[in-house]
Amino acid sequence: MNKDLLKMSNLSKEDILDILNLADQLKYEQKHGIEHHHLKGKSLGLIFEKSSTRTRVSFEVGMYQLGGYPLFLSSKDLQIGRGEPIQDTARVLSRYLDGIMIRTFSQKEVETLAESSSIPIINGLTDDEHPCQILADLMTIRENKKILEGLNVAYIGDGNNMANSLIVGFLTVGMNLSIASPTDYSPSNYYIEKGKEISKSMDVNFRVTTCPKEAVKNADVVITDVWASMGQEDESAKRIKAFQGFKVDSQLMKLAKNDAIVLHCLPAHREEEISTEVLEKHSEIIFNEAENRLHAQKAILVKLLK
Ligand code: CP
Ligand code: NVA
Repeated sequence: MNKDLLKMSNLSKEDILDILNLADQLKYEQKHGIEHHHLKGKSLGLIFEKSSTRTRVSFEVGMYQLGGYPLFLSSKDLQIGRGEPIQDTARVLSRYLDGIMIRTFSQKEVETLAESSSIPIINGLTDDEHPCQILADLMTIRENKKILEGLNVAYIGDGNNMANSLIVGFLTVGMNLSIASPTDYSPSNYYIEKGKEISKSMDVNFRVTTCPKEAVKNADVVITDVWASMGQEDESAKRIKAFQGFKVDSQLMKLAKNDAIVLHCLPAHREEEISTEVLEKHSEIIFNEAENRLHAQKAILVKLLK
């Protein structure tokens, strides 16, 4: 496995399955009160330049459950906020910590941090990627469907960080993927090309469309995310207009398979990207998905820090 988890393409199919298997085991152990202090004596820094509920709490608690020590580091309080170069921050923190999780805007910043650090760096969300969420999503799908390969997945919504990591991660494990976004909001050419390349090598279907109905047809799994991500709040009104017709509601779900499941990384904007009815109908799985952030990230931490 790579030193870092900066983006989904850092992981091979084998890496992903190894993480999911370990995540299942750690979940079992936690539920049965079996101690698993794999990271005793290790410290993890958590740098946040954007808000978080799930990522912060699941990493902090996960590190504690692994016998290690998490430090929450708001970028407002670090000297980064006053202009200290990320390279110097990396060199200093590498001498205190055993790993860093960072949530920020630019993917480049995370990559620069990793280049200058001797310790593992984990991407806890950038404008471009959200790999930790995708691993929890894969874990949740496998728990429910028992398999991953050959499942039909539909992602309805913005071609954002979730869509990008989903393209790489889901196709890599052998799932078929359809993405429906409004014109001008589809994933970037870089990720579409990457998706085509992976789908060819994995012999799976990958389709990008502007028609949600086409994407959802025959889906085993339907996924959505907010229309305006963190940092895009100013564009909310414009986006609400552009995304009309892209709500995951019971009408749209009729086109999916009868036993289709719905995932949402949360936070959700009810009656925008998802109807309250669909969210509540699938809430057991959606909140399990949130819980699985904890187990999947503990597996990532063990793989990278141990
Ligand atoms: N899904 C997710 O990353 O949630 P938070 O923004 O609350 O961390
Ligand atoms: N796309 C969303 C995901 C939040 C977990 C955002 O970046 O805000």
